[in-house]
Amino acid sequence: MMITSELANPLEYFSQQEWEKIKSFADSNPTPFVAINLDNIKKKYQELKTNFPLAKIYYAVKANPGNEIISLLKDLGSNFDIASIYELDKVMNLGVTADRLSYGNTIKKRQDIAEFYKRGVRLFATDSEPDLRNIAEVAPGSKVYVRVLTEGSATSDWPLSRKFGCHVDMAIDLLVLAKKLGLEPYGISFHVGSQQRDINVWDAALAKVQYIFNWLKTEENIKLKMINMGGGFPAHYLNRVNDISTYAKEILRFLGDDFNESELPEIILEPGRSLVAEAGVIVTEVVLAARKSKNELYRWVFIDIGKFSGMIETLDEAIKYPLYYEQSGPVEEAVIAGPTCDSVDILYENFKYHLPLDLKAGDRLYWLATGAYTTSYSSIEFNGFPPLKAYYI
Ligand SMILES: Cc1ncc(COP(=O)(O)O)c(C=O)c1O
Repeated sequence: MMITSELANPLEYFSQQEWEKIKSFADSNPTPFVAINLDNIKKKYQELKTNFPLAKIYYAVKANPGNEIISLLKDLGSNFDIASIYELDKVMNLGVTADRLSYGNTIKKRQDIAEFYKRGVRLFATDSEPDLRNIAEVAPGSKVYVRVLTEGSATSDWPLSRKFGCHVDMAIDLLVLAKKLGLEPYGISFHVGSQQRDINVWDAALAKVQYIFNWLKTEENIKLKMINMGGGFPAHYLNRVNDISTYAKEILRFLGDDFNESELPEIILEPGRSLVAEAGVIVTEVVLAARKSKNELYRWVFIDIGKFSGMIETLDEAIKYPLYYEQSGPVEEAVIAGPTCDSVDILYENFKYHLPLDLKAGDRLYWLATGAYTTSYSSIEFNGFPPLKAYYI
């Protein structure tokens, strides 16, 4: 799919029928809210499965923890990447069993590890010795995989790599120690950064993984069984990206270069954004549109949602959501800002969206591809504004 103009076409994301349903729902409800089309998530899940037929999918719940989404993915056969005991409660209350869960956060309290273990979870990520020792003590015998540092920050719109992961040498030491401590040294994980536009970054990451696999096998007689290739697969925002089929084709080729087909380990993927982003439409209303001086070139358009109510990924204008509106007259560049009394709450100032000249209070703007990292990032009461409402369609 290619975004052909700045004014997005909802029909690049939804069928005519789906879009009419979203629009008619939107038209009869007050803003702001996000409408999530569950069929879109189903399609994305199936598309990922088709493109990576051998991979086990662990949905990264943090991307959108909506009950409806978790239940849908549970029924489709997904597993889940869990970041905290709160997410654990949530998915287990919805009937997901512990054998479908991985505790993927490398930063965790000892008592939380114990709780995961008590509830039956046996798969843990780690990237440091103190965390590994905690796992060995309170989750004995569990499978552990070590997250390695990756490069790729420059080409990822929402980088993750510096905070998580460890150097290759440390990963080897940790897996050797895991065995000594009675754990099962199970595999390696990496995350190349969210909204990763450069597919080649997986190549470099897989080369590191292959090195670790080989070293452990030949030097320590440890045979790892799993590679967790993380998330990072993109959604179609304003910047062009390749389709998932291109990602899959290339990544499977890299994998084939590094591992014999007969010895291919279990492959895990942890998609978040790529599964749920394009299903969401944030429907907003203009609160005020005004100039700051008589001859200012740009109007400031304030809308009823901002950084604190779901659009945090506009920080540094990192994610540029496709925008749709219905007016058809002349347009001008505008600054777009949120409704709170905080000057950080400016969404787009360097990048100027073109907005209709006659846009006025009460007119609606539809932000497409906003199903990921919006509801879960929304503050509970900043300036009194409630969290972003979500409706599942
Ligand atoms: C451990 C882990 N896995 C998967 C994901 C999902 O990544 P993405 O949304 O880029 O698919 C994240 C995102 O923060 C993560 O931290």
